[in-house]
Amino acid sequence: MRISVIGCGYLGAVHAASMAKLGHDVVGVDTDPAKVESLAAAEAPFFEPGLPELLRESVGSGRLSFTTDTAEVADAAVHFICVGTPQRKDGYAADLTYVDQAVAALAPHLAPGSLVAGKSTVPVGTARRLAERLAAVQPKASLAWNPEFLREGLAVQDTLHPDRIVYGVPRDGVGGDAERAEALLDEVYAAPLAEGVPKLVTDHATAELVKVAANSFLATKISFINAMAELCEATGADVTALADAIGMDVRIGRKFLNAGLGFGGGCLPKDIRAFMARAGELGADQALSFLAEVDSINMRRRVRMVDLAREVSGGSVVGRRIAVLGAAFKPDSDDVRDSPALNVAAQLQLQGADVVVTDPEANENAGKVWPTLKFADSADEAAQGADVVLLLTEWKQFRDLDPVTFGKRVRSKRILDGRNVLNPQAWRDAGWTYRALGRP
Ligand code: UDX
Repeated sequence: MRISVIGCGYLGAVHAASMAKLGHDVVGVDTDPAKVESLAAAEAPFFEPGLPELLRESVGSGRLSFTTDTAEVADAAVHFICVGTPQRKDGYAADLTYVDQAVAALAPHLAPGSLVAGKSTVPVGTARRLAERLAAVQPKASLAWNPEFLREGLAVQDTLHPDRIVYGVPRDGVGGDAERAEALLDEVYAAPLAEGVPKLVTDHATAELVKVAANSFLATKISFINAMAELCEATGADVTALADAIGMDVRIGRKFLNAGLGFGGGCLPKDIRAFMARAGELGADQALSFLAEVDSINMRRRVRMVDLAREVSGGSVVGRRIAVLGAAFKPDSDDVRDSPALNVAAQLQLQGADVVVTDPEANENAGKVWPTLKFADSADEAAQGADVVLLLTEWKQFRDLDPVTFGKRVRSKRILDGRNVLNPQAWRDAGWTYRALGRP
């Protein structure tokens, strides 16, 4: 099948390479010439495990190419919209500029019978609005919403082995032919991808909501356990043991109950905010008022970590050497968008600390956001002469640090475990003052 993927960021680049892996003839379109050039040379413009290999294979086989010119994909049967929907600068709502621009650029080139399939996370109602616009230009094209649930760091695996496939197809005559939309998507995701994977076919609005509802639930689960961490701190209880115990109830489950510095990244924070903004526009803001609490519990974790650093530094961080392990919003990623780790590092620097950050993959991106921070190539280098060490992103190399040898680097053996991943006893036995969020 000939497929186009409009927008080649985290979502689009992985989707394009994965669809080529399935055997399709794929063209990725992006307005950024530098990104197109890098992808066309089979170089991933960001860190994502498995993507470089996939790009080399697909570009090498000739099944995957990239362009800045939308006219070149006029003969594709399915066009996936994968552009970003960041938070608007003037509030919480999603900025739909890129989605609108992509659809406007594509519409005049659409072949009769082709399908536009949205994958970007959008406010509910967007698909219908776009369908109306497309109908005015190419009434014989259809529009579906086909949300994507990939996680950074596991994006290739999540795309090729999804746990469900959701199609939002036209239901009331707006958006073209529902049966054709479903048949084309089935052809895209034919076996082996779809084998044994549950498929849910629904209307546009439900499909749009599935994505934001899922992300809101995940964010709520994290903030729930972080709220419990606050209670644990107030009572001397241990949130990790609490999470293990409640997680054994299969109705609750242990996943996404890791208390610590909270969530960040390009999805969960902006998605819950955009969802609240959209609910407000729909007159249903009360239904999501709990998400404001989810957001504020999450942001409080960062403040708490800075307070803890000040506390163990004797009341002030001014002039203190602080080593920060981690800058990415999570391990196995170089993404620093809304990163809790980078936010804490920056706050400490603003309060007068001498901060050295190290991240296996994200130093460069972090330096673009906070150029005044110092960066080191390893945990050992960052910890040289440190008064306090903060573990803020749980990369494997940080989880595996040996408290005895690592202790020889620092001036004072004080470690704050922002992700509850170290063994407190092992660190205390090696002479460290160990503190964590939600653990005694
Ligand atoms: C998320 C969703 O998981 C994915 O389905 C959706 O498509 C995009 O948004 P992603 O942002 O890549 O994916 O990361 P995820 O693994 O969900 O982690 C998000 C944040 O939550 C990270 O900052 C992580 O450190 C934090 N987190 C996660 C916790 O603090 N505790 C947990 O138990 C789990």
